[in-house]
Amino acid sequence: MSVLARAGAGPLSAAARAVVPWLWRGKYFSSGKEPAENSLVTPMLRHLMYKIKSTGPITVAEYMREVLTNPAKGYYVYRDMLGEKGDFITSPEISQIFGELLGIWFISEWMATGKSAAFQLVELGPGRGTLAGDILRVFSQLGSVLKNCDISIHLVEVSQKLSEIQALTLAEEKIPLERNAGSPAYMKGVTKSGIPISWYRDLQDVPKEYSFYLAHEFFDVLPVHKFQKTSQGWREVFIDIDPQVSDKLRFVLAPRATPAEAFIQELSQRIALTGGAALIADYGHDGTKTDTFRGFCGHKLHDVLIAPGTADLTADVDFSYLRRMAQGKVASLGPVKQQTFLKNMGIDVRLKVLLDKSDDPSMRQQLLQGYDMLMNPKQMGERFNFFALLPHQRLHGGSHQMNARQSKPSPSPVAGFGELVWR
Ligand SMILES: C[S@@+](CC[C@H](N)C(=O)[O-])C[C@H]1O[C@@H](n2cnc3c(N)ncnc32)[C@H](O)[C@@H]1O
Repeated sequence: MSVLARAGAGPLSAAARAVVPWLWRGKYFSSGKEPAENSLVTPMLRHLMYKIKSTGPITVAEYMREVLTNPAKGYYVYRDMLGEKGDFITSPEISQIFGELLGIWFISEWMATGKSAAFQLVELGPGRGTLAGDILRVFSQLGSVLKNCDISIHLVEVSQKLSEIQALTLAEEKIPLERNAGSPAYMKGVTKSGIPISWYRDLQDVPKEYSFYLAHEFFDVLPVHKFQKTSQGWREVFIDIDPQVSDKLRFVLAPRATPAEAFIQELSQRIALTGGAALIADYGHDGTKTDTFRGFCGHKLHDVLIAPGTADLTADVDFSYLRRMAQGKVASLGPVKQQTFLKNMGIDVRLKVLLDKSDDPSMRQQLLQGYDMLMNPKQMGERFNFFALLPHQRLHGGSHQMNARQSKPSPSPVAGFGELVWR
């Protein structure tokens, strides 16, 4: 029997998800050549010009790091950029079904790997906390399955503003912690269903315990280096002050490892050490594209060098690169298209259950529009991909040492990458 039918007993999400005409970030490809939206001299632009004047041109990676996560002025640090009033929309904000199916994925992996007595759910870049909320609702609905499992939630988030919104979405109570309080977390709390929840600035701070990791639209905001092929070979692209136009930046060419590499290696080492799995969902390609660096502001493409700090910056994830970085330590699956992954996870059954339960025409229309946006190949269905990192034993048989006391499970197909098999 499908687990989706059982989970279908749950209510529709309290906060109705409004759909669409907004922009999701995988929709267009550009290299910052669109006309300038405005030429505001932002505090971030002043900061960058000062920096470049003092120490010379900066790499695209450094530019992204400053613009997005500078603790004083970074784009992600003090604003809610998601949704109607923000700059873009993401799958969990479109439909509750998305997070519910991911919740089922984690339970399915937990069962397939021997039902450990405890696990941490670690989400990287949790946005408004909507995805974690939908996953937690599934955990509650399947409480009878998880009842003897000690679950804790760990959120890795640099944004003060978003961590506050996540706490409002997820926590019954939250306690900010002083720096130097002896805890690597900067905030702790308890979810509405009584699960401990902690916030960290870096994955390195999360306890190294048996964990399931989730990264949705996270890797694409990590700084990238940009290279261009020239007659003298490959040269890195830098950002410099434009000498012709005052208060303007420009790309220049100059005569190398990315933060994504550091994150993937840390995830791989952790999974190899403690077991668990990582599910990475993002827009991207399998090594087939080159220049995908672009900006978004108010649901429109935005020149990446104009008014820095006011727009989101992103680059498609190269999954072939993540696979190469993880190689050896852990096994990888995918990328598979979002359409295939959600179909395998039973999105059609879940949609039917929700439609059957709802007699509100606007809610039904919203569910159908959300489904179309997630699944239609012309929308997010083919642009977004799912990619998983798993211990080698998960794919090739044998159970992890932490589960040695439990009966040894035979390797079952990994849900989403094959059809969901509910045992
Ligand atoms: C594009 S949003 C995706 C939000 C959410 N996962 C979703 O799909 O709705 C990126 C998220 O990553 C966070 N973030 C960006 N850079 C980060 C970093 N270096 N470390 C931790 N979180 C980061 C942002 O604050 C935000 O929560």
